[in-house]
Amino acid sequence: MASIDRSDPVILGHVLAEHRDLFNRMQSLKTAFADRRRINDRRATILEALGDLREHLRTHFELEEHGGFMEESIARMPRLAPAVAAVMREHPALLAELDALVARLSAGDVSAEAWVRAGREFERFSATMREHERSENAVVQQGYNEDLGLD
Ligand SMILES: [Fe+2]
Ligand SMILES: [Fe+2]
Repeated sequence: MASIDRSDPVILGHVLAEHRDLFNRMQSLKTAFADRRRINDRRATILEALGDLREHLRTHFELEEHGGFMEESIARMPRLAPAVAAVMREHPALLAELDALVARLSAGDVSAEAWVRAGREFERFSATMREHERSENAVVQQGYNEDLGLD
């Protein structure tokens, strides 16, 4: 990994852009869950979108854990370390939540009630994800702003 130099606003922008991309994917899945007309016919499409989101999340988390953004924030502002550690610890649970939902929808035709439940689970998952990303944005922004004298 190349060391992160003063072009960091680019990297910060990259993290924020990824968060927006994930947010858009989650929004279109929420819409797909909300429309229950012939939803079983769309099961494969929804599963594909969920799988896609899962893969994006996995690589996104990996980048956050090993890409240096968080380490860089800590290097700039050591008191952020506990907040960074706490937010990184949430990654496995977030992936597991999505995996559980995929497993339930993969088992075969899904009853109307089960679709409602799945929709609610996805809503909860998205809310947790948004909270997670907000914490990350805050950590990264604090680290960079202070260093750039923006605080
Ligand atoms: Fe994250
Ligand atoms: Fe993130």
